[in-house]
Amino acid sequence: MPHPIFPFTPQTKQLLSKKLVAALSNPAVGDQIVNIPYLRGQSPRPGRRFEAYTRAMAFDELRKDYSGVPLVEGQCASDPAVQFQHWFDGAMRAKVLLPNAMTLATVDTDGFPQARIVLLKELDDEGFVFFTNYQSRKGDELAANNKASLMFWWEMQARQVRILGEIHKVSEAESDAYFASRPRESNLAAMASDQSRPLESREALEARMRSMDTGGELQRPANWGGYRLVPSSYEFWQGRPDRTHDRLEYRQGEGGSWEATRLYP
Ligand SMILES: Cc1cc2nc3c(=O)[nH]c(=O)nc-3n(C[C@H](O)[C@H](O)[C@H](O)COP(=O)(O)O)c2cc1C
Repeated sequence: MPHPIFPFTPQTKQLLSKKLVAALSNPAVGDQIVNIPYLRGQSPRPGRRFEAYTRAMAFDELRKDYSGVPLVEGQCASDPAVQFQHWFDGAMRAKVLLPNAMTLATVDTDGFPQARIVLLKELDDEGFVFFTNYQSRKGDELAANNKASLMFWWEMQARQVRILGEIHKVSEAESDAYFASRPRESNLAAMASDQSRPLESREALEARMRSMDTGGELQRPANWGGYRLVPSSYEFWQGRPDRTHDRLEYRQGEGGSWEATRLYP
């Protein structure tokens, strides 16, 4: 039976995919899309077909059951940094695309969270290092409030890691060493970019890069370098069947030791 609110005119049926017609016949799905104006008795336009399909079907088709390896307290490292390394190695072995891509969330001066992806470039006993422009938006935000969050998502293992901590600039020597290891073009781009400031055109950026390339060794600009997030808490999330995901939160106690607590999914 077609969904009662949705009139299937012959023209509509012709334009909509069989899958979508089937979806619309399901009241649960049909209800979600009756408010799309052109589906309220109007003729759908071919160009909008994808939109209807996306809204009605794609989210439902994306539903996935996770069958990850259980995250069990007794089998996890007592130090979350070790547990992180274990999961990171797993993502590397699985050849995840950019396993070191992490979402960095900061808070701006109006209290809005601001998130963007940066790449983890060093991981040591102290914390998680990434490189950027110190005068970018994130740089300004971290200068005002150095509390931040990192988030990793490794799709193939259905694993998410959330890390909170304070962020500090790495030493000049550390930034110099990393700058020296980068491809020349990347460094020219770092030198030429007033990251997060308005740019009149792409050509202007390219001209600036050319003007900075004097042929000799490139010096790291003072406004470009590394930040290290020193973790104060970690949450490991493992996707499990039927939305019964495993979550373990590690918090540091007085003496510096870590305590893990299981959270409801
Ligand atoms: C996969 C990926 C990796 C990125 N890595 C970095 C990075 O390591 N450092 C960086 O400054 N920006 C990186 N970016 C760009 C940032 O997401 C962001 O656009 C830029 O840093 C400006 O952010 P801001 O305006 O919040 O300061 C990356 C973006 C993507 C999608």
